[in-house]
Amino acid sequence: MTKYKVVITGEILPSALAAIEEQCEVRQWQKSTPPRVEELAKWLEDAEGLFVTGKIAVNETLLAAAPKVRVIAQSSVGYDNIDIKACTNRKIPFGNTPGVLVEATADLAFGLLLTAARRIHEGWDWVRAGKWQEGQLPLGVDLYNKTVGIVGMGAIGSAVARRAQASGMKVIYNNRHPRPDQEQLKAEYRTLSELLAAADFIIVLTPLTPESQGMFGAKEFAQMKPTAYFINAARGGVVDTQALYKALSDKQIAYAALDVTDPEPLPANHPLLQLPNILVVPHIGSATTETRNRMAMLAAENLLLGLAGKPLVTCVNSEVNYR
Ligand code: DGY
Repeated sequence: MTKYKVVITGEILPSALAAIEEQCEVRQWQKSTPPRVEELAKWLEDAEGLFVTGKIAVNETLLAAAPKVRVIAQSSVGYDNIDIKACTNRKIPFGNTPGVLVEATADLAFGLLLTAARRIHEGWDWVRAGKWQEGQLPLGVDLYNKTVGIVGMGAIGSAVARRAQASGMKVIYNNRHPRPDQEQLKAEYRTLSELLAAADFIIVLTPLTPESQGMFGAKEFAQMKPTAYFINAARGGVVDTQALYKALSDKQIAYAALDVTDPEPLPANHPLLQLPNILVVPHIGSATTETRNRMAMLAAENLLLGLAGKPLVTCVNSEVNYR
């Protein structure tokens, strides 16, 4: 059997690689410094399928260099690095991995809220630094009876809402439109301004799009309570980093906890990391063994289905999904 030619742009879990290699001749472009862009371009000339890892930008230039590609798969729910319109224009279905990471990502988002509110990581730093005997760590804040405002109430937002409700929190949310099932979700719709003014904790889960780029800037931080906790588990680009730095250093808001940053990765000497009222983790929303495995296997399945001319299980541009 002739094998399909596939380019994988970065790291991939061994289970997914093995599934792909059963049917494909794989060229794996490892991360390197400087990036071996010319090498990738040469492989792309022949490639029929593209498995994107490492958040490489799939744009007109890359697609023009890959004239035979007929399916693209990526192991993530977010696809802000993919020019969907360019894929659709070339009738290339693009598969992402929604659903399988919902609970893990909700755990991390709510975990950031809880960790920040209760100063868990600072407590650990104290213990390790031998300060336990010396005094009192600054007190945290209750979750019970507080209001969490979820910006981007999709599947992950709903899963965060359940966790917040279990802790006795009131849930309000903002989406482009109110959700028809909001009663079942026990969540109330608010405009963004209303949400920012009312929430004790703001959790951002909205995808990065041209509309949401820089959505949280000086104006938005100014509308928040001075006691507000700001949690970003979406994409760094949704937040104006300079404005967040200023809001935190001027104590315009109380605290930030970030799974994602702009730039990402954040350099170790970045001013944000020098602040006392911030917690940053390195984009680990979906980073559990089980979830990352499910994501990689779903992405591999999408790739193989597309190569065989069959519909992808989860396709973003469904209008060009194979029928
Ligand atoms: C996603 O899948 O988009 C998560 O943020 C992990 O990248």
